[in-house]
Amino acid sequence: MIAKENVILRSACACDIEKILELEKKAFPFDAWTKELFEAYLCNSDSSSVIFIVAENNKKLIGYVCLHIILDEAEIENLAVDCNFKRSGIASMLLEYIITKVQNLDVKHMYLEVHIDNIPAIELYKKFGFEALRTRKNYYPYGDAFELKRTL
Ligand SMILES: CC(C)(COP(=O)(O)OP(=O)(O)OC[C@H]1O[C@@H](n2cnc3c(N)ncnc32)[C@H](O)[C@@H]1OP(=O)(O)O)[C@@H](O)C(=O)NCCC(=O)NCCS
Repeated sequence: MIAKENVILRSACACDIEKILELEKKAFPFDAWTKELFEAYLCNSDSSSVIFIVAENNKKLIGYVCLHIILDEAEIENLAVDCNFKRSGIASMLLEYIITKVQNLDVKHMYLEVHIDNIPAIELYKKFGFEALRTRKNYYPYGDAFELKRTL
């Protein structure tokens, strides 16, 4: 576990893209987001509809989360942590941060999809109070997803 005070959470910026892509390819080898997709989110980061946050330790980018807000609903679109820092509480810090942030924006419900075999992510979201709404068949090219929801 890294001490929380050694982790900085801040808005993502253009200079983070290459490191984010590196983490993304390791985290999602079969359907990694493209540079263009991240850039599109970055362009809207800190608008009222997109929140894109990175975690840093000693100036090294070790995780990120990206979500999209429409009215009173938020969808977590992407979340990943550097393999070398897994199980150190980084995803938890990112989730705590965005949950507080969307609560302040009057968001009432959060959603996301997760592959049905992605036990680390399912356990993480369960710990944060997300519940399964339904199974979405063939949501991914490589299988089904659970749609999870948390009411704030
Ligand atoms: C899922 C992921 C984001 C978790 O990040 P993390 O920083 O390691 O998570 P944390 O250290 O904050 O763990 C919080 C909780 O999640 C659960 N968890 C995390 N990794 C787990 C694992 N390998 N097995 C079981 N539960 C796990 C546990 O409940 C854990 O709490 P605990 O450590 O007190 O038991 C990370 O494994 C990852 O980047 N995976 C690849 C990308 C991905 O799947 N993203 C989510 C897509 S929806």
